Amino acid sequence: MAQLKEKIDTIKKAFQEALSKVQTLAELDQLRTTYVGKKGLIPALMKELKDLSVDDKKVFGPLINTLKAETQTILDDAKQTIINKQAESKIKKQEHFDITAYKTNVEQGHQHPYSQITEEIEDIFLSMGYEILDGPELETDFHNFTALNIPEDHPARDMYDTFWTDRLNMLLRTHTSPVQIRAMKEKKLPIAAVVPGRVFRHEATDASHDFMFLQCEGFYIDKNVNLSHLFATAQTFLKTLFKKEKLDIRIRPGFFPFVEPGIEIDMRCPFCQDGCSVCKKTTWMEIFPGGLIHPNVLTACGIDPNEYSGFAFGFGLSRLAMLKYGIRDIRHFYSGKLKFLEQF
Ligand code: PHE
Repeated sequence: MAQLKEKIDTIKKAFQEALSKVQTLAELDQLRTTYVGKKGLIPALMKELKDLSVDDKKVFGPLINTLKAETQTILDDAKQTIINKQAESKIKKQEHFDITAYKTNVEQGHQHPYSQITEEIEDIFLSMGYEILDGPELETDFHNFTALNIPEDHPARDMYDTFWTDRLNMLLRTHTSPVQIRAMKEKKLPIAAVVPGRVFRHEATDASHDFMFLQCEGFYIDKNVNLSHLFATAQTFLKTLFKKEKLDIRIRPGFFPFVEPGIEIDMRCPFCQDGCSVCKKTTWMEIFPGGLIHPNVLTACGIDPNEYSGFAFGFGLSRLAMLKYGIRDIRHFYSGKLKFLEQF
């Protein structure tokens, strides 16, 4: 009997000690199994009752039962305490949760390379005092050709493979030059303007030709404007765009019916040393056509060529974008390929 009493005390003590070390619910479960589980230490004590006298049974039976019940209550309380603690620490963790620390990779949209270079070009010309103009893509024969000194049946019309429409004398503009005409007719002189925009040519596509591409027209009309103004403007523009102090360029004559004299500025091919398919084996690339506005064009717009003169240029914005970004095929621009676009 004394032995049993001792056993009960030992178990009580051991339980208290083990409980003080418990940290997790799993450990607590283990403790429950060890002490009050079916094969646990406390139920095992019950089996020892059978060797006791009836009187002792009356004392120890309830004692063991109480011990079991108490132990169970203690275990239940401990369980609740652990659950509460865990919830508390979770809240604490959230309080210190830094939402910027776990940034997921969100795909970001960005500007098309055409938009990027257009804005850059606009900024350069704005800084030189130019304004930016816009014009219709569906043009009249008059603005696209006739007023630009290209009358009907003029062979120069062959330079432009034109998309004609089923509306009489209406076409998709083949260049941005018609906006020169519109500006000269509508605006007061002097004018300095640039016109970036889409143009259309009905021709087979290859790495350097597309049926739709971007041009940028530019013109300055005032008294005493001459070629040196055009050269200086072109140089300032190209140096700024290509971020170069010295340009490897050459200037040669070029023919366009709406300028006289006409010029072409070529730049060294950035893709090769001794000729490639992009520069057609010449190592030079035509990048900047221009000239002094033909007196016939000024007259067609009601400007007296004896009083005013001006220069005009109309470069391929697509081509400059290709040179600046190292793109070898113009068709990439509107291919919609993300692999291409994501590089910008
Ligand atoms: N409009 C011409 C073209 O598209 C380019 C140009 C513009 C040439 C202005 C000279 C002056 O071919």
